[in-house]
Amino acid sequence: MRSKRPLISMSQVQLVYKSMFSQNVISAVWCEPPAWLALNARAADDEADSTEDPVYHRPVLQPEVLRLLKPKSGSLIVDATCGGGGHTEALLESGADVLALDQDPDAVQHVTEQLAHFGRRVIVRQANFRHAGCVLDELGIRTVGGILLDLGVSSRQLENAARGFSFVRNGPLDMRMDPTTSLTAATIVNQYSEEQLTQLFRELGEEPAARRIASLIVKMRKTSPFRETLPLARAIEKLIGRHGRQHPATQVFQALRMEVNDELGALEQGLRVLVARLAPGARIAVISFHSLEDRIVKNFFRDHAREWLDKPEWPAPQHNPDYDLKLVTPKPTEPSDDEQRANPRSRSAKLRVAEKIK
Ligand SMILES: C[S@@+](CC[C@H](N)C(=O)[O-])C[C@H]1O[C@@H](n2cnc3c(N)ncnc32)[C@H](O)[C@@H]1O
Repeated sequence: MRSKRPLISMSQVQLVYKSMFSQNVISAVWCEPPAWLALNARAADDEADSTEDPVYHRPVLQPEVLRLLKPKSGSLIVDATCGGGGHTEALLESGADVLALDQDPDAVQHVTEQLAHFGRRVIVRQANFRHAGCVLDELGIRTVGGILLDLGVSSRQLENAARGFSFVRNGPLDMRMDPTTSLTAATIVNQYSEEQLTQLFRELGEEPAARRIASLIVKMRKTSPFRETLPLARAIEKLIGRHGRQHPATQVFQALRMEVNDELGALEQGLRVLVARLAPGARIAVISFHSLEDRIVKNFFRDHAREWLDKPEWPAPQHNPDYDLKLVTPKPTEPSDDEQRANPRSRSAKLRVAEKIK
């Protein structure tokens, strides 16, 4: 029998409140905990991977990243998604200097504090990596000695109910990694048309019941708009039932998160901007967790690693103006069985690496 435990432990309540104070969501005057902090034992039981973890985030494929990225001592690596700082720290320990970026101010604060002892060898900035060019310009840096992108969300973001990513811990339907942006999950759920929601759940969530879920949402929001995560997760569960280990709202929540943060758009732009700043011989490593992300990385690397382009209607092959990369990993590197067992969230990770040739 499954053990029952509260939806949010005291340590998580403290964490939620600490984060809300730091984001000025609530004032320093004590107030009643909001209703969405209500305990819910059943839901917490449901998500196998969401067990409480005091670690901010367990870095995935860390030895493989170091082996394939080959950071040189004294070179500057851009860790464009520093999160809990695990990869950043490993890069610093290898002897490289690091420019650590994250669009989430909580991650930036955490990494700044945790890695302060590396002094001037680490620079931390809050930025979306799609704007990495501006950050490099501001710092007067033209080229860099390596780039790491570890996409998606951190465990801390997922587990902090106040951020609204979780379908097992109730919170506001938010899902913004950068809280200064305006689009939230609530806006999408309450304002997108049925057609838009269907397309979103189908394309970004690869959800087979996309149309039925969109239709239910549109019907339910007429009487009461969705404001919190659990009512939405429960409505989806009631509609499509449970099949297997995965919570039935997983794909819909993933689609909402990717839309709120324009994750695919940021990846396409970020790859272009960042690869342009890579020094000859330096490498870029990208860890993705979603097939659409992996496809974008694979196609970008392939399009930049082809020296000649040919079409049946052309009299002769033409030189590819984008040719500037060499593939280091023709096939993606995946976590070992041991890593997948020790860290279930690593299961879908794929690492691709390419090297700048000019
Ligand atoms: C999987 S975590 C990275 C974990 C990190 N490598 C570590 O070792 O702890 C992903 C992080 O990327 C950040 N992120 C996602 N998309 C981003 C973007 N477009 N620009 C900047 N940061 C982004 C998230 O806020 C999150 O902190």
